Order: sequence, then C-alpha cells, then structure tokens
Amino acid sequence: MNLSEKLAAADGGADAASDTAASAPAGGPPRNRRAGDPGGPPARSNPFGSPGSKGHPMRRASDRAALDQAWKTSKQKVQAKVLAEIGPSAADLSSDELRDKVRSTVNEIFDREDLGISPIERQRFVEEILEDSLGYGPLEALLADNSITEVMCNAYDEIWIERKGRIERSDIEFTSNDQYRRIIDRMVHAVGRRVDEASPMVDARLADGSRINAIVPPLALRGPVLTIRKFPERAFLMQDLINLGSLTMDAAVFLEACVRGKISTIVVGGTGTGKTTMLNVLSNFIPDGERLITIEESAELQIQGAHVVTLETRPANAEGTGEVRIRDLVRNSLRMRPDRIIVGECRGSETLDMLQAMNTGHAGSMTTVHANTPRELLGRLETMVMMGGVELPQRAIREQIVMAVGILVQLQRTPAGPRVVHSVTEIQGMEGDTVLLQDIFHRVETHEGMGRLVPTGLRPKILDELSANGIDVPPHIFRNETASGLGAERAASRHHRPARPGRVVEPPSEELYEMLARRREREGK
Ligand SMILES: Nc1ncnc2c1ncn2[C@@H]1O[C@H](COP(=O)(O)OP(=O)(O)O)[C@@H](O)[C@H]1O
Ligand SMILES: [Mg+2]
Repeated sequence: MNLSEKLAAADGGADAASDTAASAPAGGPPRNRRAGDPGGPPARSNPFGSPGSKGHPMRRASDRAALDQAWKTSKQKVQAKVLAEIGPSAADLSSDELRDKVRSTVNEIFDREDLGISPIERQRFVEEILEDSLGYGPLEALLADNSITEVMCNAYDEIWIERKGRIERSDIEFTSNDQYRRIIDRMVHAVGRRVDEASPMVDARLADGSRINAIVPPLALRGPVLTIRKFPERAFLMQDLINLGSLTMDAAVFLEACVRGKISTIVVGGTGTGKTTMLNVLSNFIPDGERLITIEESAELQIQGAHVVTLETRPANAEGTGEVRIRDLVRNSLRMRPDRIIVGECRGSETLDMLQAMNTGHAGSMTTVHANTPRELLGRLETMVMMGGVELPQRAIREQIVMAVGILVQLQRTPAGPRVVHSVTEIQGMEGDTVLLQDIFHRVETHEGMGRLVPTGLRPKILDELSANGIDVPPHIFRNETASGLGAERAASRHHRPARPGRVVEPPSEELYEMLARRREREGK
C-alpha cells in the first residue's frame, strides 16, 4: 500500500473523503473555489476505505500513528518547498492572492514529484497545506480584527463575535466541519495538548496569547465548540483602568504602595470581572530586582519585569497520568527561590500552600479568587484550605488568612457592562473568631453612570507596615472629602521624587503621581 492508501484505510474511508471533492485536475484546481463550496464536484466515497478496517482497533491505533507521522512529514516537505518558492514575494500579495499562489504552487509540486499522496487525498492535503501556511483559515480575519474581543464558534457555519461588549453573529464560516475540526486540533496541538473523545475539553493559548477553549463530542452534543478570548494587543496599565473609570487615582496610588510594600493581595470577583487583568496591572508594580514566579492554568499574565519565571499546569495524558496541578507548581516554586509567587487563580487545594508561602518569606504574593464579596471570599478560602486535606481547626485557618493577606481588591461588573473596582478592603485582624474586614475605598452609587470609588475616610492599618518597608503613602488620599485638596508643596515634593534606579520598564507610577499632583493643584485653586 502506498501512503495515501494506508491513510484512507486507517481513516475507514468515511472521514478521509468527506470534505474532499474529487482530485484536482492537473494544472491546478479552478481558482477561487474552496473545498466544500457548493458547486464543487460531488464528494466521492473513498475506494480505498473499507468500512471493515474499523473492526481492528488494536492495529488501527499504531498504524494510524505511523500514518499520521508520514502524512505530517510529507506536508512539512511540501511546505518547505512552498515557502522557498513563494516566500520572497509573499509579503506583496493580498491574502486571496497568497491563497491562490500557495494552492497553485502545491499543485505544481504535486505534478512534478511523487509525494505518495493519492489523487483522492490530494485536495485534503492541499487544503491542509493552505491552512498551515496561512494560519487558522477563516478565523484569521477575526483574529486580526482588533475590535473583536471574543470569538465563539458553535458550529463550522455558526460563528459569533464580541465587539465592544456586544455579541453579534459573524458572516464568516469554515468551509466544512472537517476544516473546523482540523483548525481546533492545530490550535491545541501547538501547545502540546489534544482534544478528542478521550479528553473532550481543553484550554490552550495561541501564540499571540489569546486563550482558547475547545469542547467536543460527546460532551458537546451538537459538535465541537470553540471559544477564543483574544488577548488585548497591549496589556492594560493602571492608567487605562483609571481612564476607564474602574478606579480612582487615589485608590491606584494606594494599591501601588501596597504592592511595592509587599502586602499580599487577593483580587476577588466573579467570572469575567477583570480579575486577571487587575492581577496583571498590580504585578507590574513589583520592583524589577525581585524574582517573580507566575503559576497559571493557561498563561495569561503579561508581566513586564526583568526577572519573571512563567509556569503553566499540565492536564493528564491519555493514560490519565502526568497531571501537574497548580498546587504541585506552587510547592515546586518554593524551591526556586522566589521573592513573590503570583498564582493566576486559586480554586482548590493550592490555597493552603499559597497562604503558607505568603506567611513564610514570600510576602507580596498575589492571586485571584472567584467570589462576589470579601466576606464570601473568606468562606471560600476556608473551604479551599480544607480541600487540601489538612485538618486544621477553623480558627487556625482564619489566623493563617489574617496573617497572610493584607488587601482585597473586589471587582464587579456593573449592570451597564463596565468592569469596576467595587472596594479596596483591608483584612485588619481577628476579633474573637471573626475576621475583621475594613473597606478603605468603596464604590458609592451616583445618579447615573457606574458610581464612584471614594475613600471611606479610615486610615489603613497597614500604613505602618508600609512605612516600615520604606513606602510612604500620602495621607490625603484616604480623606473622605473632596473639598480640601493637596497642598501645592506636598504635590511638588511628590513630583520631584527621584526615579527609582535600575528599572527596565517603568510602571506608570511617576505619571500617576504627577497627574495626582496636577489634579490637586487644579482643585486647590
Ligand atoms: N477595567 C476594565 N475595563 C474594561 N474591560 C476590562 C477591564 N478589566 C478587564 N477587562 C476585559 O474584560 C475581559 C475579562 O477580563 P479578565 O481579567 O480575563 O477577567 P477574569 O479574570 O475575572 O475572568 C477581558 O477581555 C479584559 O480585557
Ligand atoms: Mg481570569
């Protein structure tokens, strides 16, 4: 058997031929026609594929792996040739022209050389090369469009997009179910994961940082579903969050001081409230000299520091082994001499390890937890500590929490859509068995819009700790009145703070202080 015959046999015939029209005529297929277009030649059943071949599961698996490998090797060979032939001119071509050019080049190579691919398989082969050379096929256009923040594929011909917070149906479709499936596979293979009947859901990340989730049958009843959360071209900075009205400059100044002063922080909020975004913004305030270890299920954080180690968990393989969980990574990271550990999200047994890390020399570590309020967070933390299987009395757990965590940043999505800081809350200690929570900033309702984040007027207890760490916070930012502004001299002294030495990427702090000073000056007049 030649390669294509074996492939066809291994495929059982059916799927091999499903989206391939008959072989393209010598000299190239008709231009501007995509596989699966109505009007193409009718699909033929594969003469090499005998349904009976499905009856040998044992042989099939190993044969199939070898055949996949051979198919891949042929593809790589052709791809290299295509690249060599059209590479130099590729940049000048539009994407349609490039598609045509790649197609005709592959067909020329086919006519010239024996690649061991049968005519039946040729079109599928050409389509795969095209997709490989041109990325993610129809999705490319959506991925390239910066106004789109989310892409949701419910079926090969049903793609929805989110633009400026609104969901609409896109007129872009995959050419066939097979193409849809192949592109999903390519996305997850690229990061060494897979998605199939045995492990039907997967999280992965594209090269540009976009996060994808794929779930396929039997879990998804009507076929594969692919969700892509696009990575913003540029990560949010604190200044962006201020401009968006998510928090005030005063609150930002306080949070920056907390991060610099090594106060361990938890970002709290529901799904999609901006927790990861906030964690990222806060992490960027960590001084460059410190060694950070980030631990995530799928890496989303974009921390600009000079000394960042990025770790990612791994799901179990087909045999159900080899899983590496957040908890394993947290424990391992302790042996990597971190100054701080940043865990993308705590949702289970890793919580106790995280709290202990915060309590044993890794102050200033941060994480996010899914909870709607600070009070709810405390309950969640207790539950998650217990999930670690360590028998600790409730009071001891609470003490761990109180000792470990200094500040909570609670996020919310307002009914109108924007994501905002709802409160900045200090964990102040224990009174009896109760953990004392004190809002330092909280959001008050306004007649219209998304409310306003105002200081509660209470002085945070951690100011002393901050001060001991060499961080002085201007006390006026906690004052709960708008009338009395900051004195001009104080503003000026802020203004002329010497720049911190040795920073590669300057966080927006100086800028913040300057804007703060300017605003106070304006208000003072
Ligand atoms: N303050 C904000 N204003 C507007 N959009 C935001 C804000 N914070 C986050 N986003 C956007 O909201 C989406 C969800 O944010 P993310 O941080 O991933 O949320 P979570 O981690 O809570 O699920 C992302 O597309 C992000 O870019
Ligand atoms: Mg998140």
